[in-house]
Amino acid sequence: MIKGLIFDLDGVVVNTAVYHFQAWNRLANSLGFEFTEEDNERLKGVSRMESLNILLEIGGLTLPTKEKLRLASVKNEWYKEFINQMTASEILPGVTNFIDLVKSHGYQTALGTASRNAPLILERIGMQKTFDAIIDGNQVTKAKPDPEVFLKASAALNLEPSQCVVFEDAIAGLEAAHRAGMKCIGVGDQKTLTEADRVIPGFVNVNLSLLQL
Ligand code: BG6
Ligand code: MG
Repeated sequence: MIKGLIFDLDGVVVNTAVYHFQAWNRLANSLGFEFTEEDNERLKGVSRMESLNILLEIGGLTLPTKEKLRLASVKNEWYKEFINQMTASEILPGVTNFIDLVKSHGYQTALGTASRNAPLILERIGMQKTFDAIIDGNQVTKAKPDPEVFLKASAALNLEPSQCVVFEDAIAGLEAAHRAGMKCIGVGDQKTLTEADRVIPGFVNVNLSLLQL
């Protein structure tokens, strides 16, 4: 029986992919190559350093670790310029209502995200007190598709993995949820999220029957 809901942040609660794209694109251009929105799909759900590795591979560049750390930090400063401007109006449609609904029916909620900027984003959108537990990129060592983030989230809720369902927009996240022994509801396009147990386009008009998996 499902007792806990674990939400990814980027692409599920807020659409920050567009800001990640603009910051990575600026970095690629400063390094002398193009980075497309299609390329950006490969970065969804992936940690910051792994994202940089993919970006450098696209640009055909091999750089020493020290320089890579510097570039990741430069990108993050540019990204933070965007997220510092975020407001609650950027919470994706239906998310707040759905979380209120499940909480009023006794479900526990957690955030399970690769992002190390999660605390800042939650503060900007006024959701720092919404979840019963928050596991973000600052608490995990292994990036999705490793299940670590979701296993830590279920443990923080004092629930078994089988009692939790994950909401994810990224293929790496679906795999992480399944490897954690959890059901996973894809948020986005059915054609992309083929491994999900169920897919919803978003949270508008979603009700509790969704949790009958
Ligand atoms: C994930 C995003 O949630 O967080 C990725 O989907 C991002 O695109 C990753 O790279 C890490 O985010 P941050 O905020 O720590 O750079
Ligand atoms: Mg995501």
